[in-house]
Amino acid sequence: TRPLAVAVAGLGTVGAGVLALLRENAPLIAARAGRPIAVTAVSARDRAKDRGVPLAGLRWYEDPVALAADPGVDVVVELIGGSEGPARALVEAALRAGKPVVTANKALLAVHGAAIAGLAEARGVPIAFEAAVAGGIPAIKLLREGLAANRIRHVAGILNGTCNYILTTMREHRREFAEALAEAQRLGYAEADPSFDIDGVDAAHKLAILAALAFGRPVDLAAVHVEGIREISALDIALAEELGYRIKLLGIARREEGGISTRVHPCMVPAAAPIARVDGVFNAVVAEGDFVGRIVIEGRGAGARPTASAVVADLIDLARGRHTPVWGAANGALDTTPAVPMERH
Ligand code: NDP
Ligand code: HSE
Repeated sequence: TRPLAVAVAGLGTVGAGVLALLRENAPLIAARAGRPIAVTAVSARDRAKDRGVPLAGLRWYEDPVALAADPGVDVVVELIGGSEGPARALVEAALRAGKPVVTANKALLAVHGAAIAGLAEARGVPIAFEAAVAGGIPAIKLLREGLAANRIRHVAGILNGTCNYILTTMREHRREFAEALAEAQRLGYAEADPSFDIDGVDAAHKLAILAALAFGRPVDLAAVHVEGIREISALDIALAEELGYRIKLLGIARREEGGISTRVHPCMVPAAAPIARVDGVFNAVVAEGDFVGRIVIEGRGAGARPTASAVVADLIDLARGRHTPVWGAANGALDTTPAVPMERH
């Protein structure tokens, strides 16, 4: 069978991880996808950089947007990042060219999700984004497919691996904030601009995506109340511990009387609560549906290998011809419940 020909734009933490996974697990992936998945073209800024994965024989593009026009490419994988610039231009160009897209870019989807979904649906071209929320955890599949028959009451969780790693390291190893952040960056967890992590913006991007899926609404980043962890000190963490609590950055989207509230902020969580024990780079997503009740999934929320796992799962779905409308089963019948105004959060 003809392989699925894939272009990968961005060869940083996640892009290199995707190439490594496609290579290391090639026979298993081909069996599950029904055909081999082969990277044929790539793009990044610095051609001379060692990525730890072989690039010989792959077509190299200076301009990532040009990948969309390559006739030898069936699917475009966008792993550059950022809500504007080349990432947005590439995703739009690929959809316009009729090429399915896989992306890990939550910033792009949180800011331009409605327009991108409109473009994808107008052209009848799938866009998959499992890696955009909670790294290796199948949070998108859970909400969009697993809980499709439920009315969701709330979806919440630990949605940023960098913040959870910093808070855990400060507590367990008495590290300073700056030192813990530098470690998270070294491990490839942080965004290119880490203020997105520590100011809660990345978690807000993910929560806006989850809320759109859970409540069948257009993605609404402006409605999310956001506070990060920049001001949390080692003393705050130690005092919380003395009182029997742990500090966690949580994202919470809840159906309330009069609207849907979405908020991201540090919370004091009882130390015995299961979510208090989700440590390091791990994320957790908790959802409650009216028929299924409460569901919790937990796993690595950032890093090369977990994130590559989610990207390649999307590629396998596309190779098999499995895809779902962008915002799920509620697409076309959106819930019109208003967002709770900011002042009521
Ligand atoms: P990195 O910063 O490690 O990699 C970004 C890549 O994009 C680099 O290879 C860089 O090239 C390339 N790039 C940047 N600008 C351009 C440009 N103008 N033209 C061509 N290539 C460009 O990011 P990550 O791999 O960490 O993240 C990628 C995406 O995945 C982001 O959307 C991020 O939010 C998301 N994500 C990241 C996770 C993680 O754990 N890191 C987890 C889940 C999602 P060069 O290498 O030459 O500089
Ligand atoms: N910077 C993000 C995090 C990457 O730390 O969670 C995963 O989306």
